[in-house]
Amino acid sequence: MRMTVIGTGYLGATHAACMAELGHEVLGVDVDSAKIESLRAGTVPFYEPGLPEVLTRNLESGRLDFTTDYQRVAEFANVHFLGVGTPQKRGSYAADLTYVRAVIEDLVPLLEGEHIIFGKSTVPVGTADEMQELADSLAGPGASVEIAWNPEFLREGFAVQDTISPDRIVLGVGRGDGRAEEVAREVYAASISTGTPFLVMDRVTSELVKVSANAFLATKISFINAVAEICEIAGGDVTRLADAIGHDERIGRKFLGAGLGFGGGCLPKDIRAFMARAGELGADQALTFLREVDAINMRRRDRVVQLTRALCNGNLLGHRVTVLGAAFKPNSDDVRDSPALSVAGSLSLAGADVSVFDPQAMDNARKVFPTLNYADSAEEALEGADVVVLATEWAQFRELDPVQVGELVNRRVIIDGRNVLPVQEWQAAGWNIQALGRSL
Ligand SMILES: NC(=O)c1ccc[n+]([C@@H]2O[C@H](COP(=O)([O-])OP(=O)(O)OC[C@H]3O[C@@H](n4cnc5c(N)ncnc54)[C@H](O)[C@@H]3O)[C@@H](O)[C@H]2O)c1
Repeated sequence: MRMTVIGTGYLGATHAACMAELGHEVLGVDVDSAKIESLRAGTVPFYEPGLPEVLTRNLESGRLDFTTDYQRVAEFANVHFLGVGTPQKRGSYAADLTYVRAVIEDLVPLLEGEHIIFGKSTVPVGTADEMQELADSLAGPGASVEIAWNPEFLREGFAVQDTISPDRIVLGVGRGDGRAEEVAREVYAASISTGTPFLVMDRVTSELVKVSANAFLATKISFINAVAEICEIAGGDVTRLADAIGHDERIGRKFLGAGLGFGGGCLPKDIRAFMARAGELGADQALTFLREVDAINMRRRDRVVQLTRALCNGNLLGHRVTVLGAAFKPNSDDVRDSPALSVAGSLSLAGADVSVFDPQAMDNARKVFPTLNYADSAEEALEGADVVVLATEWAQFRELDPVQVGELVNRRVIIDGRNVLPVQEWQAAGWNIQALGRSL
């Protein structure tokens, strides 16, 4: 099947390459010409395990190409996936829909014949209906455009696997005699044939599915982090507590990892946009708890900064702090709203001499926070540290040898911001190890 993918960031580049991998003919389009040049040359402009191989294989097969030319997009196919960004609006909690609208405005007037646009971006409820109206108003006499919503649930770090074998496919369709369901069944035939649930609903519900899923995940993380706050004061151990409550299958252990909390390009902005939209709909009380979810999450970052300060005798000035990690989670180079980088930045602004290392996110981190010291290796970052903060749980950091690291630092003091280190081994090597939600 022929299709285009509009917006080739984390979501779009992955979707384009994986659709080609499934045998479709795909043209990706973006307004960022540097990104398109890079993708055409076979280089993924971000870190995503497995994606470079899928990209080059499908460029070579001739099933995958990229362009900045919307006219080519209009002529290439009648099926289009829309995956542009929906960031938080400046000065507001709401989502910025400028890019989504721009796609409809730029593409629809160029279309001839019958087209379907499957929205994949995460959007406030009501957006798909609004885009359908906009498309109807812009379509030329010989064209019709059906808007459907097909939210994306991929996880960065597992994006290829999640796109090729999703755990469910959600499709929101408009009322009437559209063809979106039939076409989506063809696009995703490989997944559907292996039993992947294919859930068809109205567009409004499909938009709400995505934001509700993210709100639930954020709530689960903040729940355990709120309990961690109590454990810290009462002297409990949140990791043992999470293991114990996680055995209840109604609760489950996943997403109960207490620590520095969530970040990235999705959860924080999605819960805020959900609250903003609820307010616009006159249902603001329904989601006020998400404000608390957000606040609990942000307090974890402050807690790590306070703990570091306390471990420097109350004054960060002149102390050397190593922050291990800059990406918002391991196996990604994404630093959007990264807790690790936020902590590193706050420590630096409070006067600490901060040295940062991340296996993949150094370039992105430098762009966001150019004033921090970036080391070329974990060892270099650890040299002379008064306090070490493990902020992103890369395997490389989890597996550090406490004896060897002990030789590099000035003082053997570490904060495990992700509750992933083997505490007894570190203590046996003479370390003062502190962790969120535990008194060690
Ligand atoms: N990254 C994820 O893990 C993930 C997962 C699920 C859903 N989403 C959602 O997918 C959407 C995209 O997220 P992302 O992380 O890929 O963002 P991104 O910033 O990495 O990519 C967005 C891309 O859209 C391009 N773009 C902007 N305007 C355009 C236009 N008019 N025409 C063509 N291209 C245009 C940008 O240049 C950029 O390359 C968001 O709504 C996000 O919430 C992301």
